[in-house]
Amino acid sequence: MIWIETPTNPLLKVIDIAAIVAIAKSHRNILVVVDNTFLMPYLQRPLDFGADIVLYSLTKYMNGHLDVIMGAAVVNDDVLEEKLRFLQNAMGVVPSPIDCYLVNRSLKTLALRMEKHQKSSYIIAKWLENHPKVTEVLHPGIPSHPQHKIAKKQMSGHSGVFSFKHSGGLEESKKFLSSHKVFILAESLGRYESLAELPSVMTHASVPEKQRVELGITDSLIRLSVGLEDTEDLIEDLDQAFKAAF
Ligand SMILES: Cc1ncc(COP(=O)(O)O)c(C=O)c1O
Repeated sequence: MIWIETPTNPLLKVIDIAAIVAIAKSHRNILVVVDNTFLMPYLQRPLDFGADIVLYSLTKYMNGHLDVIMGAAVVNDDVLEEKLRFLQNAMGVVPSPIDCYLVNRSLKTLALRMEKHQKSSYIIAKWLENHPKVTEVLHPGIPSHPQHKIAKKQMSGHSGVFSFKHSGGLEESKKFLSSHKVFILAESLGRYESLAELPSVMTHASVPEKQRVELGITDSLIRLSVGLEDTEDLIEDLDQAFKAAF
């Protein structure tokens, strides 16, 4: 099994799904699993590129309202479906009716929410690109992203999750994150409200330091999940947090 997530968390590298599928299919019995949590089927459909299983944390955009923890494995193959259904039944991995109701209800506004997340995150990424304290913006939707071409091939847009690096260190990151008035300092992503976090000491603290540094998960890497608030309010919030931190 080859298991990928694209774009990756928290560096937003884009992996060519069709290329991975071609490698897997040149061998026997290798399944390709794609975690599509960052984009949802609204922005990327890995089954269309030959993936066997698509995974979702429905907790994120699909529900998006901070009141359900749930996941899904999506397939378009009857044999694989039967195997997964058997395992689900045998292991008791069955969501509650209220959780199903809430996710189903949230799906009705997924397209509208993804459009807003997408638009806002693009405007904010462009604003950050021009900020004097920002050294790098990692957003697959902007042309400066190293895999922008692959992104354009397999994604119809990008969501609210992206990262950037600034010219300071740990102290500046801490001051920046504790100065926000709209962004909430928290892990998770894909909610209606905007979140900001420091992967090196939060979501990716369990990665050994040497490996983290090699990967580029430094103390100046901030990850944002742009929510549904007014874009100008979010930019104003980032602006005042930069002024407080530097
Ligand atoms: C890409 C990705 N996949 C899976 C998960 C796991 O989701 P959950 O907490 O709903 O199990 C997360 C977040 O926690 C995530 O960011």
